[in-house]
Amino acid sequence: MKVVFLAPSYPPEMQQYTRGLAEVGAEVYGVGDTPAGSLPPTLKPYLADYLQVPRLLDDDDVVARVTAWMRGRQVDRVLANWEVMVLTAARLRERFGVHGMSVDTVDGFRDKQLMKERVAAAGIRVPRAERVRTVTEARVAAERIGYPLILKPIAGAGSADTYKVESSDELETVLGKMLHVGEASCEEFIDGEEFTFDTVCIDGKPAFMNVAQYLPKPLIARTNEWISPVIVTVRDLEHPKYAAGIALGRQVLDALNMGDGFTHMEWFRKSNGEVVFGEIGCRPGGAHLVDQMNYTCDIDLFREWARASCFSKFAAPTVRKHNAAIVFKRAKGHGRITRIEGLAEYLRRFGPHVVEQKLLPVGTPRRNWKHTLVSDGFLIVRHPDWDRACAMAMAAATDITMYAE
Ligand SMILES: Nc1ncnc2c1ncn2[C@@H]1O[C@H](COP(=O)(O)OP(=O)(O)OP(=O)(O)O)[C@@H](O)[C@H]1O
Ligand SMILES: [Mg+2]
Repeated sequence: MKVVFLAPSYPPEMQQYTRGLAEVGAEVYGVGDTPAGSLPPTLKPYLADYLQVPRLLDDDDVVARVTAWMRGRQVDRVLANWEVMVLTAARLRERFGVHGMSVDTVDGFRDKQLMKERVAAAGIRVPRAERVRTVTEARVAAERIGYPLILKPIAGAGSADTYKVESSDELETVLGKMLHVGEASCEEFIDGEEFTFDTVCIDGKPAFMNVAQYLPKPLIARTNEWISPVIVTVRDLEHPKYAAGIALGRQVLDALNMGDGFTHMEWFRKSNGEVVFGEIGCRPGGAHLVDQMNYTCDIDLFREWARASCFSKFAAPTVRKHNAAIVFKRAKGHGRITRIEGLAEYLRRFGPHVVEQKLLPVGTPRRNWKHTLVSDGFLIVRHPDWDRACAMAMAAATDITMYAE
């Protein structure tokens, strides 16, 4: 099993997927923009070979170079788990004629308008939305859709340039801030709780499934620096609250013709119980969601993803033991972390339930919270009881304070 794996070293969790591939017996041919000499030493044993490309995001160039590099060699899979690489992987699959999702299929997971059109065509509830390219188009679409509405980039990530707009006056202000965005989606604002639906699929059917709740909703968490965003995986997927969302998720996978690998979907649950599709990617969720899922079941999804992708098998138990909550912290002030208050007391109270403590140590420069959800670090706590898990997460949000100057 010879696998071309795009971006094996960055983002850092990609090293775990590389390990997973090697552990299930694949020969991994890594392609990235990191110089071979700068790859982490821990990664090298998992790579059969490595190609450094000058511009990883230059699709045409990467396709040409990888084609030349692998000429005369067997290729069985071309895989990518980083959103910006999934289309390149599909192009390479078509070039090599290997198993996996086509460019057209992957497009349905990448282009937010096409995605909604395909999902809606299968009879699934999506926010009413229009693709807009100019200020005039946005004004016309806004009149049709009505307020409140959401304006966001078609190819967005991390809630960047995403705005809730309450009125036509506010629309003008927001349009002024969005002039650099080439294509936007103008859509009906869905008022509800927000969840993920994550899977590892084999031929479009979930071999592993997960639901997690965002507390608060990502747009709120990512526009207010004082908030410590929390995401909690749901242990009890049988609870009636999630049934409609899980059913919706499965329908979406069918509608988009999912193949093998990770999916990460977001969905809304309105107060009347109605569920609405948000978005989906054919790759894992970021910001340590895969670690959270691993802590939920005590399994290794890095490896099981590899097994599913290469051999159409999933070999870990899917019994859910915990609700695993991640809490992201943002320091007060700018510059370097100077002190962390409340951590010792927190660990004294909840220590046995804390599975990771990765707050930036004193002396390290702050991260840009707008650029990375991980912000100034995180804790992961877990508990079999939902309310206890949430209460511990909220305690970490309110009782631990990081300072910087
Ligand atoms: N139609 C909508 N109704 C209500 N809220 C929305 C809508 N569209 C987007 N949002 C809010 O904005 C956030 C970001 O939007 P979306 O998930 O589409 O973009 P993204 O930038 O790709 O997100 P991510 O943070 O997952 O990378 C959503 O998680 C949600 O909180
Ligand atoms: Mg999103």
